[in-house]
Amino acid sequence: MPALACCVDAALSPPGYALAGDSSLLAPVTFFGVPPATTTTDNNAAVNVAVENSHWSPSLSASLYKIDGWGAPYFSVNSSGNISVRPHGSETLAHQEIDLLKIVKKVSDPKSSGGLGLPLPLIVRFPDVLKNRLECLQSAFDYAIESQGYESHYQGVYPVKCNQDRFVVEDIVKFGSSFRFGLEAGSKPELLLAMSCLCKGNPESLLVCNGFKDGEYISLALVARKLALNTVIVLEQEEELDLVIDLSKKLCIRPVIGVRAKLRTKHSGHFGSTSGEKGKFGLTTTQILRVVRKLEQVGMLDCLQLLHFHIGSQIPSTTLLADGVGEAAQIYCELVRLGAHMQVIDIGGGLGIDYDGSKSSESDISVGYDLQEYAAAVVQAVQYVCDRRSIKHPIICSESGRAIVSHHSVLIFETVSATSYQSPALSTLGLQYLVEGLSDDARTDYHNLSAAAIRGEYETCLIYSDQLKQRCVEQFKQGSLGIEQLAAVDGLCDLVSKAIGATDSVRTYHANLSVFTSIPDFWGIGQLFPIVPIHRLEERPSARGILSDLTCDSDGKIDKFIGGESSLPLHELEGDGNGGNAGRYYLGMFLGGAYEEALGGVHNLFGGPSVVRVSQSDGPHSFAVTRAVAGPSCGDVLRVMQHEPELMFETLKHRAQEFLGQQMEDEDDNNSIHNASALASCLARSFNNMPYLCCLTAAMNNNGFYYCDSDDFNGVSADSGAGEDEQWSYCCA
Ligand SMILES: Cc1ncc(COP(=O)(O)O)c(C=O)c1O
Repeated sequence: MPALACCVDAALSPPGYALAGDSSLLAPVTFFGVPPATTTTDNNAAVNVAVENSHWSPSLSASLYKIDGWGAPYFSVNSSGNISVRPHGSETLAHQEIDLLKIVKKVSDPKSSGGLGLPLPLIVRFPDVLKNRLECLQSAFDYAIESQGYESHYQGVYPVKCNQDRFVVEDIVKFGSSFRFGLEAGSKPELLLAMSCLCKGNPESLLVCNGFKDGEYISLALVARKLALNTVIVLEQEEELDLVIDLSKKLCIRPVIGVRAKLRTKHSGHFGSTSGEKGKFGLTTTQILRVVRKLEQVGMLDCLQLLHFHIGSQIPSTTLLADGVGEAAQIYCELVRLGAHMQVIDIGGGLGIDYDGSKSSESDISVGYDLQEYAAAVVQAVQYVCDRRSIKHPIICSESGRAIVSHHSVLIFETVSATSYQSPALSTLGLQYLVEGLSDDARTDYHNLSAAAIRGEYETCLIYSDQLKQRCVEQFKQGSLGIEQLAAVDGLCDLVSKAIGATDSVRTYHANLSVFTSIPDFWGIGQLFPIVPIHRLEERPSARGILSDLTCDSDGKIDKFIGGESSLPLHELEGDGNGGNAGRYYLGMFLGGAYEEALGGVHNLFGGPSVVRVSQSDGPHSFAVTRAVAGPSCGDVLRVMQHEPELMFETLKHRAQEFLGQQMEDEDDNNSIHNASALASCLARSFNNMPYLCCLTAAMNNNGFYYCDSDDFNGVSADSGAGEDEQWSYCCA
C-alpha cells in the first residue's frame, strides 16, 4: 500500500503537527501526516515532468493502451507520441502513415489559421481502411477456397444497418465491385438506398432483402429484380411467402427467394439472443418444409435458391462458427434434395472484432480468431457436409458488418476540464470555529480523531472522521451548524483521507461529447471500445480518470474500459482548457464504425458529430480531406423533435423588437446586445451552431453574449481551407 507507506513516512515528522487538542487552541497549521503544501515553481515542474518522461516512451503508451492488440494493423503510436493511422493496413509504407493529430488540427483549426473550422466532436472516416478491410475479407475467403480446393466462390454482402452513411455504402459498392460485393437491407429505406447504390455496382452483386416485410417491401424487392439488380427476398417469417407468391404473379416478376433458418446452434454471448430455437428470426424446420411444399405446389420451387442464417454478432470462436455452419449446410443439402435450385449459403454476420486486443473467445468484446481462421472454418464446414452428401459446393455469402466498417472511423472528442482535488490548507478551514459549534458527541469524535492521528492509527482516523462528518451533516440538517462549519468538516475529512491514502484518486474528465449520441452501445449494452489520447503518448499519463459527458444524465459517463479497467490512464490537462491548441486534450474512440452512428439518439438534443473523410495522399502531410461536414446545428436537432426553428427564431426576434425597440432607438451601437437586430443575429447564430461546447472560437462580444464565430463553424464550403497547399486539398463532394 504505497499511499499508506507514504503516510507512515510522513508520520515521522516532528511532533506538534497535530490536530487541535482542545477547542481553545487556535486553528493548527498542519495536520499530522499531511505533507506540507509545497509551492512548485514552473521550472521545478518542468524538470519533474522531464524526469518522469525520461522513463517513458511512445511504445510504453502503446502497450499501456494495448494499441498493438486492438489497433493492428491500422493504428500505432508514432515517435512524436501521436496516434498514427496506417490506411492500407499492413501494406502501408512508412511515408503513407497519417498523424491523427494533424488531421484534427487541420479540421478544427479556425479558417483564419488555415483550418476548416469544424467543431468537435468529430468522426474521421478513412475510406482506405474500409477498402483494406473489404479486400482482406475477400482474400481471406479466396485463400481458404483455393487452399482447400473448394469448388465455388465467396461473394459477400454488407449489411447497411451497420452504418448507412451514404459515402460508406457507396465506397463499399465501389471498392467491392471487382469481386461482386453486394448489400443487405433490413427495411424499406435500407432497400431503397441499397437499390440506388447497387445501380453503380457489379450486376452480379447480391442484394439480400432481410427483415420483416409487408407488401410494399416485397413489391420494392421485386421491382429491384426488374431493374436487373441481383435481388433475393429472404423469408424471415412464413407469412411472407404468400405475399411473395401473390405479388410476383401480379407484377409478373419471377423472384429469387431465400429462407432464413432458425438454427439449433446457439451463441451464448450477449449477441446470441437472435440465435437458437427460440431466436427472434427465421423459420423452424417444420416451417421450411411447408415453404418448400407450397413453392412446389405453385410451381416456384426453382425460385428458392438461398439459405440464410445468422448465429449472432461477435461469434466468439471458430468452434461455434463451424458448428452453426455445419448445421446450416445440412439444411442446405436437404433443400437441394427436396428439389430447390439452391445456389447460395448465406452465413449471416457475426465475424467479430477484437475490441480489447486479447484475442479471447471468453468475452463479448473479443474473439478467438482472425479473418483467415474465420474464413477457413466456414469453407471447411460447408465443404465437409456437401462432400459427404455429394452436393455441389454453394456460393458462400457472408453478411459481415462489424468486421468491415468498425476500423474505418475514429471518433475524436475533447476533454474540457477535469476535477482536481485541492487539499484545503488547514489554517483556512476555520477549525476553531468549527469545534466551537460542534455538539458534544461530534466534539468527542473530533478529539478522538486527533488522538488517533497522533498515535498514527490511520484506520481509526477514518472511522472517527466519517462519524464526525455524519454527525455534522445531521446538525446541519437540524439547523445547528452553519454552512461554513459544514464546509470545514468536509475539508477536514478530505484532508484525513488524503493523508492516509484513502482518497479516491480517480478524477472525472469532462468530455465535450454525448455518450447517448456517439457511443450508445456503451450505455445500452455495456459494450466497450478502446479509448485513447491521440497525442501526448510520449508522456507518462500521470492521472486516472473516468469520462463524464455533457448530458444532464448520470448514465452519461464512461467508467469502464477495455482490460477490465474502471478508469483510464490520462494526462493532466494543460492551461486553462480554454486557450490555444497547447491546452487541448484530444481523445479517440476507436473501432466504433459499426452501429454507433445508426443507434445514436438526440438525448438533451445533442446531435451527431462533424464528419470528415480523409484519404491517404502522397504529399508531405500524407493525407487529403476529401469531404467535411459540420454536425447538425441546434436548429437541425430541434427540427427532429418537430420544433420549427424558423418560427422559433421569428417569435424571439419579435419579442426582442417588442422589448428592446425603445432602447434600439436610443442606441448608437449597432452591435450592442441592447440593439434588437444585433440580439436577433446572436440568436440566429445560436440556432445555426452545433449544440456542443464551443472550445475553440467561442467569443464574447462586448456586451457579454457568448457566441461561436459563425465563419468558422458554419457552411464549410468548397473552397474553405483549400488553396495555399494543395496537399490539404479539400473539396465538397
Ligand atoms: C441478419 C443479420 N445479418 C448481418 C448482421 C451483421 O452482423 P455483424 O455486424 O456481426 O457482422 C446482423 C447483425 O446483427 C444481422 O442480424
